[in-house]
Amino acid sequence: MKLGVLFSGRGTNLGALIEACKDEDYPAEIAIAISNNPDAEGIAIAEAAGVRVQVINHKEFEDRDTFDAALDATLRDAGVELVCNAGFMRILTSGFVSHWHNRQLNIHPSLLPAFKGLHVHDRVLESGVRLTGATVHFVRDEMDEGPIVAQVAVPVEPDDTVETLTARVLVAEHKIYPMAIRLVADGKARVQGERVVIQGMTESEAGPLYVPALD
Ligand code: GAR
Repeated sequence: MKLGVLFSGRGTNLGALIEACKDEDYPAEIAIAISNNPDAEGIAIAEAAGVRVQVINHKEFEDRDTFDAALDATLRDAGVELVCNAGFMRILTSGFVSHWHNRQLNIHPSLLPAFKGLHVHDRVLESGVRLTGATVHFVRDEMDEGPIVAQVAVPVEPDDTVETLTARVLVAEHKIYPMAIRLVADGKARVQGERVVIQGMTESEAGPLYVPALD
């Protein structure tokens, strides 16, 4: 399955997807990575790995519609079958979202539907929850909403700072995103109604969805 990875910054999830796709048995490859931000650190990660990367700077467009049209055309030209948002910090128009309906995933650093939006880890720490995590879901019009493919639980430690919690959740994100994409690319994760049904998942695929090894 040909992936189009959208990112805006650091690009560590892009890096994890690049690593996963190196495995001959992995059922997906990155056709193109696109950043809306010309200064994104992830650009260098893609270039170093020889992955095709393109900047489509949203500031050069009049409005969201023209930006999303350029994004859409570039993804289609690259033969993309599944769009993977990996720290892509732009709200997409409903035209774009509906074109890629059930063909676009997002990763969010919380156990959705808790803690949607920005500054997730600050709010997690303020709230006092003992358990947080990450979620991979199909994209819908509402931000951080849509059928959930996979979730991973991550403990919040009493002495956590935003930095330590971010780092722990990122380790889990880097495991869950390649795993969720594998389930979609293998045709094992299907949207029925507004829920994802997973068929034929092996025990080794199922285990880390809930209890990750945090190495
Ligand atoms: C990740 O934590 C990802 O879950 C989050 O942005 C970060 C990007 O990091 N995405 C969202 O908050 C989307 N709502 P990365 O650039 O190192 O992959």
